[in-house]
Amino acid sequence: MLTQDQIKEKIGKYAADYVKPGMKVGLGTGSTVFYLLKELGRRKAQGLSFTAVCTSVQTQRILSEEGIEFRTLDEVDRLQVAIDGADEIDPAGNMIKGGGGALLREKIVEYNADELIIIVDEKKLVDHLGAFPLPVEVVTFGWKQVRQQLVDNYRIDASRREKNGTPFITDQGNYILDCHFGVITDPVQLNTDIHLIPGVVETGLFTGMADKAITGYADGTIKLIEYNQSY
Ligand code: 5RP
Repeated sequence: MLTQDQIKEKIGKYAADYVKPGMKVGLGTGSTVFYLLKELGRRKAQGLSFTAVCTSVQTQRILSEEGIEFRTLDEVDRLQVAIDGADEIDPAGNMIKGGGGALLREKIVEYNADELIIIVDEKKLVDHLGAFPLPVEVVTFGWKQVRQQLVDNYRIDASRREKNGTPFITDQGNYILDCHFGVITDPVQLNTDIHLIPGVVETGLFTGMADKAITGYADGTIKLIEYNQSY
């Protein structure tokens, strides 16, 4: 049986096959994507040439270490493919993302890709989203009021994310509120409703965006799931 890290490594390496020579590629964030980036670094050293756009400063840093140049999203027109992890994914391909705090850039980059491929181990496959706290990115001004709106509207616990005892600041200079929904029955509607609260920048609900999921299992198998999306 493989460990969680070994599964992630296997999926990351497998996903590298989707990056073809000359492609413009959006690269996600997180511990599963880490292994994809490592593998792309290896393939780049062997001559694979592609244009990378990063979804976080963390991913930029890893690419630099791997000797892979990257562009900003503004510098490329459209991406052929984006590859990223997820915190939860349901049978329709709806996801909770943002456990690593990169949800805003991830959503922008992935919205502008022709194909979105998600790389997850089996633990991320769920029947219903919501056991993982939903990250909601908010501007720092008035964040307490936004938090209170979420608590009052949905009767949930919501806390400002902290790192090493201080507020976590996103790459875009915002806070994240982690919202404990438990079960989310209508992710599309919830995403729309949360966006109506002034001060909300983005939610970690990625609905109708995933085209494929590469899923890894402890017994070493890898399965490909395809979704019928219309985003
Ligand atoms: C970062 C994300 C990540 O894709 C998500 O948290 C999964 O990360 P990991 O592969 O480390 O479990 O959304 O904002």
